[in-house]
Amino acid sequence: MKFFIDTANLAQIKEAQELGVLDGVTTNPSLMAKEGITGRNNILKHYVDICNIVDGDVSAEVISTDLKGMIKEGEELAELHEQIVVKVPMIKDGIKAIKYFSDKGIRTNCTLVFSCGQALLAAKAGAAYVSPFIGRLDDISTDGLNLISEIRHIYDNYEFETQILAASVRHTMHVIDCAKIGADVMTGPLSAIEGLLKHPLTDSGLAKFLEDYQKGN
Ligand code: E4P
Repeated sequence: MKFFIDTANLAQIKEAQELGVLDGVTTNPSLMAKEGITGRNNILKHYVDICNIVDGDVSAEVISTDLKGMIKEGEELAELHEQIVVKVPMIKDGIKAIKYFSDKGIRTNCTLVFSCGQALLAAKAGAAYVSPFIGRLDDISTDGLNLISEIRHIYDNYEFETQILAASVRHTMHVIDCAKIGADVMTGPLSAIEGLLKHPLTDSGLAKFLEDYQKGN
């Protein structure tokens, strides 16, 4: 399973990259705003800065909601850097845009996916990634991980090449459960990735090894 980090914070992206397990980055307009990145030019420059830190795919989201606007924006984003994947919302014009980009060889990430039907449409249109938001489903008492399982089943039935990018991952158990289910990618905060490191027996075991080494020297 690929690990993407879901942030526009350059320091966190660098930290995850230095850990050596980072495969890409996802951003969205809210994450950009959180870092104080505003204005078209600053946002475009920030995407390039992210691409220069990480080796893998970087999702850059369009803000237009009509086909013409999404195409214009998406083409501009795709030209910024070869690592850019154009993030397109799951709406009717979004599906048309994904099909357009797919025919032109521009890779897309279909975002704001909350159902199997939406995931099926995204795959049919040729999205490189589909992003079901598991945390936001959990937030409204709906099983987000179950959606990942169902999409996995559907995609495997027909050998769709669209990668399932489990998004809105909130914590470490989400990461582990996504891996069990067979999500192709998960995107979450640095804390969810770093949580994988933790076990008290590792800490106490290491402390004992170091203590015993000191005794013998
Ligand atoms: C996906 O690409 C989104 O950026 C993200 O995962 C949304 O997560 P949230 O529900 O924590 O905002």
